Amino acid sequence: MMKVLAFFGGARKNGNTMAMLNYLLDQLEGEKEIINCYSLKVSPCTDCRYCFKHRACSIKDEMVEIYRKVDEADIIIFASPVYIFGVPGPMKVMLDRFQMFWSGVIRGDQPETFTKKGAFLMSGGGPLFENQFTGGGLTLSDALVICNAKKVGEVLMDDADIVKNLDQRPEIKEKLEELAILLTK
Ligand SMILES: Cc1cc2nc3c(=O)[nH]c(=O)nc-3n(C[C@H](O)[C@H](O)[C@H](O)COP(=O)(O)O)c2cc1C
Repeated sequence: MMKVLAFFGGARKNGNTMAMLNYLLDQLEGEKEIINCYSLKVSPCTDCRYCFKHRACSIKDEMVEIYRKVDEADIIIFASPVYIFGVPGPMKVMLDRFQMFWSGVIRGDQPETFTKKGAFLMSGGGPLFENQFTGGGLTLSDALVICNAKKVGEVLMDDADIVKNLDQRPEIKEKLEELAILLTK
C-alpha cells in the first residue's frame, strides 16, 4: 500500500493550509499520516557533521522516528503558510535536520534516481506579489530533493487572509485535484 507522509508547518490547525492539505489527501489512496511540526520536540541542527560519516543524527530526539518515516514513505508532501517569506520556525528547524539525508552526497550512499514523489502546498496572506512564495518555495523544493522525492507539482494559495474558505477558491481545488493525479500516476 502507498505510504503518504505529509508535513504540516502552520500554527493554525484549521487554517487555509490545512484545508488544502486535507483536500489533497482526501484524493490520495493509501496509508496517510500528517506530522504537525509545531508539536514536534526536535532540536536544531548543530552542524556537528556526525552525519558525514553515519546515516543517522547525533541528536537522538523525535527526528529518529521522522527519518524512519521519510525512508518508508512513497509520497512526501509539505504544506505550510508563508511566514516572513519563508516557512515557519518549527518546520525550518525540522528541515535543517534533513541535513542527515543531504549528507548522503558526502557519505556516498545517496540513491542515483528519485525513489519517491513529492509536492508542496503554500498559503500566503496578501494578494500575489513578487517573490511571495520564492523563499519558502525554494526551501521546500530543496527539502524534497534532499529526501529523494521528485517534485511533481506545487499549489500556492495567495490572498488567503481575505478569501478565507477553500470552497470559495474553485481554481485552487482544481489544481489540488490535478496534483493528486500527478502524485499517483
Ligand atoms: C508570523 C507571520 C508571518 C507572515 N508572513 C507572511 C509573508 O511574508 N507573506 C505573506 O503573503 N503572508 C504572510 N503571513 C500570512 C499567512 O501566510 C497567511 O495568513 C496564511 O494563509 C496562514 O495560513 P493558515 O490559514 O494555514 O494559518 C504571515 C503570517 C504570520 C502569522
